[in-house]
Amino acid sequence: MIDVDALTVRFKTNAGAVDAVRDVSFHVAQGEAFGLVGESGSGKSTILRALSGLTPGAQGTVRIAQQGGVAQKRAVQMVFQDPYGSLHPRFTVDQTLREPLRINRIGQHEERIVNALREVGLNASFRFRYPHQLSGGQRQRVAIARALIVEPRVLLLDEPTSALDVSVQAEILNLLKRLHRERNLTMILVTHNLAVVSFLCSRVAIMRNGVIVEELDVGKIRAQEVDNEYSRSLLLATNGYQRKAVGALGIDAAL
Ligand SMILES: Nc1ncnc2c1ncn2[C@@H]1O[C@H](COP(=O)(O)OP(=O)(O)O)[C@@H](O)[C@H]1O
Ligand SMILES: [Mg+2]
Repeated sequence: MIDVDALTVRFKTNAGAVDAVRDVSFHVAQGEAFGLVGESGSGKSTILRALSGLTPGAQGTVRIAQQGGVAQKRAVQMVFQDPYGSLHPRFTVDQTLREPLRINRIGQHEERIVNALREVGLNASFRFRYPHQLSGGQRQRVAIARALIVEPRVLLLDEPTSALDVSVQAEILNLLKRLHRERNLTMILVTHNLAVVSFLCSRVAIMRNGVIVEELDVGKIRAQEVDNEYSRSLLLATNGYQRKAVGALGIDAAL
């Protein structure tokens, strides 16, 4: 479904060129949930932006199956960390959901808007609210509805729960898990939380300084069978914290 081959993304800065992503290759099968994990600055968001076509300076190839041009824009949708920043403050939920339908020339607005809200657990009374009238979790539900309303094949999630309270994180993770299952979506999830990847993903790439240092089945993370020294240190460093976090999240992702 997704093929990334020798992707390099170079940014020019005052201090010279920086390779945010260096020679990265990976493959994600149709319907798979793939995780990208690594410390801040390791290049995770840059990869997602390249996949959504937002990075003009990228070298290498990024292929998303059977799509191209305008269709590709619609087929790949993204959800960001901060739902407040990503929702237009002066748009009602209704306007927020109508916009992508209009841009993609999709009809039956009323029906699709009500259905999209229902799918993310919000009833139709939310349609005419503004972002400041919603909780953080409700805002993230609206952002997810906006991504799904155009029926994408690929959903890119950039730290979708890390700005939320712990109790709300579990709700959103459960919602994403259900949507993944029901819609046969291909997902790439960026997170620094190993409990979150092992809850949602079957395979994970560990990133450091712009490169993938190891690719693992999630079972190996649970069993702590990790070859690469850096991956192991990441796992150990977060282990005590993860146990607590998992308990607090109320998700079945014990490491
Ligand atoms: N537009 C940009 N211009 C210059 N440097 C950037 C830009 N975007 C990201 N970077 C740099 O690229 C590296 C990777 O960033 P990013 O992909 O955001 O990492 P992550 O999402 O893993 O935290 C960082 O060193 C960051 O400072
Ligand atoms: Mg990031």
